[in-house]
Amino acid sequence: MRNALRFSKRSRVILRDECLRFGVAEAAKSTIACRPLDALIVQLGIPFPYIFIRTFRGSEYVAVHKTVCSLARERRNCHTGGPPTITGAFFLHFLHAMNKTATPQPEFALERHPQPTPADAITALIAEPVFGKVFTDHMVTIRWKEGLGWHDAKVGPRRAFEIDPACAVLHYAQEIFEGMKAYRRDNGEVSLFRPLENAKRFRASASRMSMPELPEELFLGAVEALVDIDRAWVPGGNGSSLYLRPFMFAIENYLGVRAASEYVFCVIACPVGPYFKSGKSAVTVWASDTYTRAAPGGTGAAKCGGNYAASLIAQTEASSHGCDQVVFLDAASHRWIEELGGMNIFFLMDDNSLRTPPLSGTILPGITRASIIELARAEGFTVNEAPYAFDEWQADSASGRVKETFACGTAAVVTAIGAVRHAGGEFTIGDGGEGQVTRQLRTLLTDIQRGKAPDSRGWVRTVEAQPVTAGQ
Ligand code: PLP
Ligand code: COI
Repeated sequence: MRNALRFSKRSRVILRDECLRFGVAEAAKSTIACRPLDALIVQLGIPFPYIFIRTFRGSEYVAVHKTVCSLARERRNCHTGGPPTITGAFFLHFLHAMNKTATPQPEFALERHPQPTPADAITALIAEPVFGKVFTDHMVTIRWKEGLGWHDAKVGPRRAFEIDPACAVLHYAQEIFEGMKAYRRDNGEVSLFRPLENAKRFRASASRMSMPELPEELFLGAVEALVDIDRAWVPGGNGSSLYLRPFMFAIENYLGVRAASEYVFCVIACPVGPYFKSGKSAVTVWASDTYTRAAPGGTGAAKCGGNYAASLIAQTEASSHGCDQVVFLDAASHRWIEELGGMNIFFLMDDNSLRTPPLSGTILPGITRASIIELARAEGFTVNEAPYAFDEWQADSASGRVKETFACGTAAVVTAIGAVRHAGGEFTIGDGGEGQVTRQLRTLLTDIQRGKAPDSRGWVRTVEAQPVTAGQ
């Protein structure tokens, strides 16, 4: 039983998060006694990959992956029908198996790059990095297979994937990604900003795209392992950082239309400077009256590649009109402002309140957006998460009711929007440059991210040296 108790510690972490997500407290009431083992098993009638065993003496739950439970049934250690019962010997086997399948440790086999980029070359490459062009030496991969769960976690040299022409992602686009940054502080430490929020959003995107949900601890372990091994690539100085791109795609070779049974999760990194290369104080956006980004019931709130593929034609249209980005309107009425192709949007009104479109399910719940809302409120701004129409924006910019508009996101940080073009003409916001509140909010945010202001909310996570196992 010592194993079971030790194991149950981690189960509590699963329980804490998962119970909240699925309202398990209710389901847990329907416990049924199970013999000969001192345990109660709760079989949940909801889409949830675990069953729970509660020990009599310890009155603690352990969470057991359903795959392991099916294995137990196959071995005829469980009753058929009703909740499964397990023999003591099998219980330990059970826990051992679950350790491997349901809650893998973030331990990564390490294979160092045989010819890493020399230090002076790295210094040159990170001096003025262009967004998304230069990549570090390593990558992290973790695989998932039906019946096996997450396995084969590796830190290795960045290399191409070998993909079969029948690979599912090439046909049905089962792919999701995240965007986050590692910052070098003045004291040389490297830190991440709210990485747990990225891990949670990655799970939410996976769920929407019928993909397996990577546990947060594995997501964080993978990101930190990469940042640690490629630490030398994190640029210092304002405006530069190491952009991290965690992503996952279906790798099963199968042309039937259904969720794939095999996936690869991967993290790559690139040193980056400002997202908008022009270095302007404010950007110009194009409001498309032809194309929309996401519809109710669609995938707008998920960070899946398909959303960006669908936005490219509008981005091309924007570029042909001399604009930097697209501002998308809602799909149903083409009236309500939603977000930009890769950023959320805020408006500063003349009563000094801020307004931003609500998270209606069609826009991405930005981590920068959430942080700006919290920081602005703490500074005394009223922030309204309320719909705002494009024609109101136009009229309010002309009348001076809208004083500033800015876009925000990991890549773009906080960027002023100075002008808007559309099929019917153009309008300017304020004096067309960056407003004072836009600058104030950007400074508040970036000072926390870069360790120049106290982190009273626990948003910053320093990347320590990571444990890795020897490579094969
Ligand atoms: N909206 C879209 C469509 C995005 O791609 C992004 C960038 O990730 C954002 C908003 C901003 O999200 P975050 O602040 O989490 O980077
Ligand atoms: C980000 O801000 O991280 C994004 O993902 C936006 C864009 C680069 C796709």
